Amino acid sequence: MAAAEPSQVRRVGVVGAGVIGGGWALHYLRMGLDVDVYDPAPHAGRDLLRMLDETWPLLSRLGLRAGAGPGRLRIHDDLAAAVGGADIVQENSPEDSQLKSEVIAAIDRAARPDAVIASSTSGFAMTMLQAGCTRPERCVVGHPFNPPYLIPLVEVVGGERTDPAAVDWLMRFYAAVGKRPLRLSRELPGFVGNRLQEAMWREALHMVAAGEATVGEIDEAIAYGPGLRWALMGPCLTFHLAGGSAGMAHMLDHFGAALLEPWTRLEAPPLTPQLRDQMVAGCLLQADGRSVADLERRRDEFLAELLALVERFSITPAAQPEPDAAY
Ligand SMILES: NC(=O)c1ccc[n+]([C@@H]2O[C@H](COP(=O)([O-])OP(=O)(O)OC[C@H]3O[C@@H](n4cnc5c(N)ncnc54)[C@H](O)[C@@H]3O)[C@@H](O)[C@H]2O)c1
Repeated sequence: MAAAEPSQVRRVGVVGAGVIGGGWALHYLRMGLDVDVYDPAPHAGRDLLRMLDETWPLLSRLGLRAGAGPGRLRIHDDLAAAVGGADIVQENSPEDSQLKSEVIAAIDRAARPDAVIASSTSGFAMTMLQAGCTRPERCVVGHPFNPPYLIPLVEVVGGERTDPAAVDWLMRFYAAVGKRPLRLSRELPGFVGNRLQEAMWREALHMVAAGEATVGEIDEAIAYGPGLRWALMGPCLTFHLAGGSAGMAHMLDHFGAALLEPWTRLEAPPLTPQLRDQMVAGCLLQADGRSVADLERRRDEFLAELLALVERFSITPAAQPEPDAAY
């Protein structure tokens, strides 16, 4: 790849400026880059400027890179004008495979030959999205989480025709602009983060459709329960701590049989000795030499601080006990 050094990138093209494209534009502005945006919707420019007005004070409080300013945003009526001078283009059109493939092909025609094209797609394979491109080797998935100006994770994966050098480049670029890029081992529908949240989301929809739980019950059950722990650790390390001092090994030996209970509509794979060992070894790697007791102390300190924050920002007040008619 002849693209600019990732840390020397000056100009980013952003195509599609809704929730995610607008959020990326704000993040890149905060990082001190020139940001050229294209979105065909007549109200898109106005909406983006309003988003910028509302969010810039928070971004300034978080800290701006040298030279960063809202004045470096340019909104274009034409896709080619927005992407023609960019070192990297972030594509954020709607999640429609046909439309997205066409938009990526149009970016490919208009962008500099050495520019990298990153798609924010929530789950389509780059192998499919890059099919209509003349230079498919520079097309990579760069999947963010909303809002991209705050959530660090970006999932990065190429398609069958992507040059691994383009994936390397994008990893280094995202790291240079303060993100936490995660290079995925393989192209998987829904990637990793989305696939996990989608499994829970589909179960939530099943529960509402079947009258098993209300929307309020579902949100309360996650926001004041497991969701708090997930702010620090992923689901594997969280369950490592559920196993006491023996960690994941005891957790699986203790709760392994429950995997056969109808606790979700998604069936678990057989808990073979290989899978058990893989989970235990993976958790030990994640723990990086820390004992379960060390991790528990860290979790507890974290939760104590997080609970104060949750109290300050809570959207749903705790349910009050029913007044007792007898008193
Ligand atoms: N919303 C999320 O939480 C989220 C998170 C991660 C990734 N994504 C992905 O980001 C992408 C954008 O999603 P969103 O939530 O911002 O949607 P959105 O509806 O808010 O924005 C999409 C934008 O694309 C514009 N658009 C329509 N046709 C276009 C075209 N031909 N060329 C360029 N722009 C066009 C629309 O005018 C709109 O402003 C999708 O691929 C989505 O899967 C969304």
